[in-house]
Amino acid sequence: MVAAALYDEGYARKYRDRDEALLQVATFQEFIAWLQRACGRFTHPIDVLDLGCGTGRYFWGVTNARSLVGFDASAAMLAEARHPICADRINANVTLVQGDLATHSFPDRSFDLVYSIGVLAEHVPLDAALVARVSSWLKPDGRFAFTTVHPQSSANAATPARQPGPADGARRSRPRAAPTTDVRRNVRR
Ligand SMILES: C[S@@+](CC[C@H](N)C(=O)[O-])C[C@H]1O[C@@H](n2cnc3c(N)ncnc32)[C@H](O)[C@@H]1O
Repeated sequence: MVAAALYDEGYARKYRDRDEALLQVATFQEFIAWLQRACGRFTHPIDVLDLGCGTGRYFWGVTNARSLVGFDASAAMLAEARHPICADRINANVTLVQGDLATHSFPDRSFDLVYSIGVLAEHVPLDAALVARVSSWLKPDGRFAFTTVHPQSSANAATPARQPGPADGARRSRPRAAPTTDVRRNVRR
């Protein structure tokens, strides 16, 4: 997996080192609020999947959850996710799973909410096949909430690796650590 090589131990540690500072960053706070709203739509305790969880910097934004699966290709990022920021605010039972989103599968109807931040159309193509796979993991009335990159974002020109389309193999540069996504969309009501 290319992602596992990119997000190696040294890079994962640097990524994790930035997490505390993000608490003061308005954009990060907005992402947390967005996630909290997504969780708040449910009136019962939920089962949640974080696709490409990295160091688990968003885990504490998950509310009203009984279980939270953090899924990522990088063992180094998952090692950091064992001690995420604001760990004392995480109430869900967290399980970390290593795998490649391109091939990994979860049982049908496992999750109320699947979310993904900074991964789709950046590392993994966002296409109908992926949406269909994720949809099959959702319980009835489940939701898929994710960030992606606007096709006309100026970041695409500056960073060829962020072009939507090819998967990891096309990357030519280090990924950026902070969420920089332009568009947030919810699919599947
Ligand atoms: C930019 S980081 C985002 C991490 C986290 N969501 C965040 O916002 O801090 C991208 C993450 O996606 C993971 N990733 C990339 N390609 C993947 C794949 N094919 N399957 C699973 N995870 C992948 C990387 O290992 C990395 O942790």
